[in-house]
Amino acid sequence: MDVREAILKRRSIRKFKEIPVEQEKIAQLLDAARLAPSGSNRQPWRFLVLEEPKIRELVADVSAQMFVRRAPLIILCYADLRCWLPDYIKYLQEELKNSGSVDRNDMAMNLSLLSSNPLYTSGKELKNYIPNAFLDVGIAIEHMVLSAMDLGLGTCWCRLVDELKLKEIFELPDYYKFVSMLLVGYPDQCPPQRPRKDIEDLLIG
Ligand SMILES: Cc1cc2nc3c(=O)[nH]c(=O)nc-3n(C[C@H](O)[C@H](O)[C@H](O)COP(=O)(O)O)c2cc1C
Repeated sequence: MDVREAILKRRSIRKFKEIPVEQEKIAQLLDAARLAPSGSNRQPWRFLVLEEPKIRELVADVSAQMFVRRAPLIILCYADLRCWLPDYIKYLQEELKNSGSVDRNDMAMNLSLLSSNPLYTSGKELKNYIPNAFLDVGIAIEHMVLSAMDLGLGTCWCRLVDELKLKEIFELPDYYKFVSMLLVGYPDQCPPQRPRKDIEDLLIG
């Protein structure tokens, strides 16, 4: 399936067949996430892949929506905020300089121009990088969503969950910031396309 077709045919799927997702397909989804772009190539995405019914039930119990219970695969998507620790950033900058991906001259930056850019000025506390983390992990999740289309799978982003309870259930440290769940399975519905704004309505000015 080409990308255009996947984009056109994708729908949020909230009814799944009661069949498990094959291991090879799970691996392909995670590989698609792995290959996503991220700021400075930080790759902050981390995943909890939940197939066991008992474990999935624990998640469904702290989710606001009933259909979570019927998803045969739940992928909990987190950002590892340690990816914004200064030493790691230094390492990434060196790696980028040496990678041959960018011309060394093109790497020169005038940081004073970024003083009003919240993604560059928030510094100090790791929690200030949460907006950056959401961008990166969001892209990785959508890579999985579109790859799922190619594999005949349906998905639904799902954020309506008690993330503090998830943290307790899986005993997660503070540096993992919850971004979203992704429900995955074989679709048992063909929802119509939801309305979308026209291109003219998206253009500013
Ligand atoms: C970040 C994000 C969070 C979402 N969270 C939920 C959710 O908690 N529950 C839900 O039923 N759908 C959720 N959705 C799915 C949206 O409702 C859906 O994408 C939107 O209604 C458009 O429908 P479509 O995906 O079928 O085109 C979420 C989608 C995104 C991108």
